[in-house]
Amino acid sequence: MPLSGRRILLGVSGGIAAYKSAYLARRLIEAGAEVRVVMTDAATEFLGTATLAGITGHPVTTDFSVTEDSVSPHTDLARWADLIVVAPATTATIARLAVGLSDDVLVATVTASTQPLLIAPAMHTEMWEYAATQRNIGQLAADGARIVGPASGDLAGGDVGSGRMEEPDLIVDAVVAALSDSLSGVSVLVTAGGTREPIDPVRYIGNRSSGKMGHAIANEAAARGAKVTVVTTSSIPLDPRIEAVSVETAQQMAEAVATVAPDVAVMAAAVADFRPARVADGKLARTEGPPDLTLEPNPDILQSVAERQVRPYLVGFAAESGSLERAVDKAKRKGVDLLVANDVSKPGSGFSTDTNEVTIIEADGKTEPWPLLSKAEVAARLWDLIESRLPPPS
Ligand code: PMT
Repeated sequence: MPLSGRRILLGVSGGIAAYKSAYLARRLIEAGAEVRVVMTDAATEFLGTATLAGITGHPVTTDFSVTEDSVSPHTDLARWADLIVVAPATTATIARLAVGLSDDVLVATVTASTQPLLIAPAMHTEMWEYAATQRNIGQLAADGARIVGPASGDLAGGDVGSGRMEEPDLIVDAVVAALSDSLSGVSVLVTAGGTREPIDPVRYIGNRSSGKMGHAIANEAAARGAKVTVVTTSSIPLDPRIEAVSVETAQQMAEAVATVAPDVAVMAAAVADFRPARVADGKLARTEGPPDLTLEPNPDILQSVAERQVRPYLVGFAAESGSLERAVDKAKRKGVDLLVANDVSKPGSGFSTDTNEVTIIEADGKTEPWPLLSKAEVAARLWDLIESRLPPPS
C-alpha cells in the first residue's frame, strides 16, 4: 500500500466541501496511512467530529484544550505528522496560513510543523479569483506548500465554475507523490512562459503563455525530489527548492538552456519563432509612421537540445488548434521522446487557464488523449509517465 506506515494529519476548514473530507480520510486509510484530524470551529458546522473520529479511530482535535494525551495538541500533532493536508481549505484558512495567523488550532498546527503541506482549496469562483486569494495561494506555493486543485464543476448553491475541491482520490495521489522521492538524483530542466521579442524599449511581440503549465511541471518534479532548473519568463511563484533563471527573449532562453545538462528536459515555453530584425534604441514615435517589422528567425531551442550528443529524455509541447495532425508530424520531426499537444481552441485548455486538456503523442505517432484536468494534475500524470520511461537508477 503506497502510504503504509505514513502518518497523515487531515486539516478540515469550514466549507460545504467538508463532507468530502470523511471520504478522503477513508481513502487515506485504505492507502495504508494512519490518519488524525484537526478541524476549525467552522468545519464542525458542516461535518460532525464523531464521523471523522469513527473513521480514523482517533479523537478529533478542534481546539487547544489540554487532553489526557496532550498538554499541547498543536505541537504534538505537528510533530506526529509526516504530512499535513488541508482539505477543504477555505479562503479564510488560506489567508491565515499565508500569514501564519495561528489563532485556530488548524493553522497553529501547520505553523508548528516542518513537514510537507498540501492545500486543497474549495470556494466559489469569485473567491478563488479574488486578488488576495491568488496572492495568498501564490505565497503558500512560494513557501513550499503543494496546491492541489481546485477543479472546475458544480459548486454550492447551484453555481458552476472553478473553485470546487479536487476529488479525494486525486488528493490521495498528491499525498503519495508528496511523500515519494521518486525523482531523487534526477536533474530536470523546464522551460516556461512566453518569450517577449522587443521592437523598441517599451514594445514587444509576445504571446498569451502565463507560465502556469511549465511551473506546475517544475513544482511537481521538485516535490518528487528532482534537482530542477526552470528557465522562465513568468513570475508565478515556484517551489523554493527550484533554481529559477529569468529570461525575456528566445535568445536569452536558448543561452540559459545551453548551460544546463539535465537528465530530463520538458520544454513547455511558448517561444517566438521570429523576432524583429531591428530593435529601435529609443521609443518609436507615432509621427515616424508604421515601424519596419521585418522578422528574422529565433533559435529552435527544443531542436538544439534534441541534437545534443548527450541528450536528455526530451518532452516537447505543442499548442495547436483543432486537428492533431501537425502535432503528430512535430513529434516525429522534432526528435522528442514525448510531445504534449494542447488544443488551445478548447475552453479551459491551453494559455493562461488553470486547467488543460492534452493529448500525449509518442515518438512513433501513437496518441493518448487525457481528459480536462487541472495543470497540477497534468503535471503529476506527466511525471508518472516520464518516470515509467526512465532507466532504473544504477
Ligand atoms: O503558460 P500557460 O499559460 O500555462 O500555457 C501553457 C502552454 C499552452 C504555453 C503550453 O502548454 C504549451 O503548449 N507550450 C508550447 C507552446 C508552443 O508555442 O508550442 P510550439 O508548437 O510553437 O512549439 C513546439 C515546441 O518547440 C515547444 O516545446 C516549444 O517550447 C519548442 N520551441 C518552439 C520554438 C522555438 N523557437 N524553440 C522551441 O524550443
